[in-house]
Amino acid sequence: MHSHHVDRPLHDGILVLDYGSQYTLLIARRLREIGIYAEVIDGAKANPPDDFHFEGIILSGGPDSVSDSQARKLPSWVLESQKPVLGICYGMQLLVETLGGQVEPGSNREYGRADLCLLGEPKGMAAQIFKNLPGQQIVWMSHGDTVQGIANQFEIIAETGSKAVAVICHRERPLMGLQFHPEVHHSEFGKDILQNFVVEVCKAPLNWQDQDRLDAILDYSRRTVGDGHVLMAVSGGVDSTVASAVLNKALGSERFTAVFVDNGLLRKNERVAVEQRFHDIGVKNLVTIDASQLFLDRLAGVSDPEQKRKIIGNCFIEVFESFAREHVNEFTHLGQGTLYPDVIESAGHGAGAKVIKSHHNVGGLPEKLDLELVEPFRFLFKDEVRHIGINLQLPAAMVYRHPFPGPGLAVRVLSAITPEKLAILREADAIFIKKLREHGLYDQVWQAFAVLLPVKTVGVMGDNRTYQWTCALRAVTATDGMTAGVGDLPMSFLAQVSDEIVRKVDGINRVVYDVTSKPPATIEWE
Ligand code: XMP
Repeated sequence: MHSHHVDRPLHDGILVLDYGSQYTLLIARRLREIGIYAEVIDGAKANPPDDFHFEGIILSGGPDSVSDSQARKLPSWVLESQKPVLGICYGMQLLVETLGGQVEPGSNREYGRADLCLLGEPKGMAAQIFKNLPGQQIVWMSHGDTVQGIANQFEIIAETGSKAVAVICHRERPLMGLQFHPEVHHSEFGKDILQNFVVEVCKAPLNWQDQDRLDAILDYSRRTVGDGHVLMAVSGGVDSTVASAVLNKALGSERFTAVFVDNGLLRKNERVAVEQRFHDIGVKNLVTIDASQLFLDRLAGVSDPEQKRKIIGNCFIEVFESFAREHVNEFTHLGQGTLYPDVIESAGHGAGAKVIKSHHNVGGLPEKLDLELVEPFRFLFKDEVRHIGINLQLPAAMVYRHPFPGPGLAVRVLSAITPEKLAILREADAIFIKKLREHGLYDQVWQAFAVLLPVKTVGVMGDNRTYQWTCALRAVTATDGMTAGVGDLPMSFLAQVSDEIVRKVDGINRVVYDVTSKPPATIEWE
């Protein structure tokens, strides 16, 4: 069986303690953008990770009220460590409460923009935190509870326009609290504040610059795999492609094998493009398994979206597993493109959330196959994976390409799938994407695609009546896909796309544009 001890790419940096804020991951991302390695752990954890040397601690915000008996407390090791601590929002209230001050619920709620004003010339840690920053700045607030009396060891450093305590600093120790959220973009100098904390206060070496990060991940992959041989299922998406490039480079192409399953639900020319790309990145062992007939047979007549996902997930596992079993003695490890947000063990993530769509994943595979796992990106955010791709000289068009769902076109041909409908959708989608690129709009949206609706409408072409399918175009802006806005594409552009689709794609005579945000809609139509 595979081992459960997971090593990490680096063993020093900053610890972010999570108290359930929706911005916790953003804190870690900002720190890494600044160039220091940061990890997120559960804020109630009784001990720090024993193989991680931290130079400082950031306490996140969170939904609790410190006075509540159920509220998460500050574990004693935090203050005992003697390391600098920066408490944000709930994290600041935790510091105050732990050291004997008072926090009162709801008396002075602040949401959104606020004007921060320093009270006089800051000294000590406060001077370091505000080094080279103006005494007045815009900050972003989101809290109900407010610090009322602060313990006498603390000094008030800044207030907001409404006379609320906004920044406090301990008089002797490097402990500081911010009522606002420096990790949010709307806080004008938020990133500088975090950088000052890391560099000026913690005096932490910046250990996570471009080259460090790449070296750390290559090294991490080598350490994890030893002299083994990795098998990895790839989709051709950003994560699996960059992971392949990393593993192939780290281990050498003799010890890395990628398997690409053609499920018959791919976009136009996608299979050839994937094969070409893997060739370009130097992967010698790419095995393409054409299983399209199997997938399409199993999907015949199925129109329920969840049913489709289930069939596709099972079919994929069946195909991949049968390959792996035939070659079982050749491999020691199974590669996966898992990202950090999926593995962080802490409060605010996932537990109890309703299933809206069961996003296809292959989590069950390693148990079944009895291979060790190697997940080169287990500690990385998506933007870091992209940077690694760029560092490895993968083409930008690859690294910044739009996400594409595992079930592929199956959830974009609404209702039951047929090869004819898939062919029609492929052409329409290719025209839309080509046009977006031509007009420099591709990178302006987070995701864009065509959907084939099970709706026939009447049209007229030349002197003839037509009766054909409707195609919907969808383009959204988003940062992580959890929420999305409508892509603001010019009407003249959309009209051109529509024109070309209806002219060139036999089977479509009407094009509509989806203007719904998420929520209440979802990005995909199924
Ligand atoms: P929704 O439709 O849930 O999509 O708003 C959010 C993001 O997830 C992608 N998506 C999927 N990805 N398997 C995947 O791997 C799926 O079943 C699936 N369904 C949606 C979608 O393309 C968007 O990027």
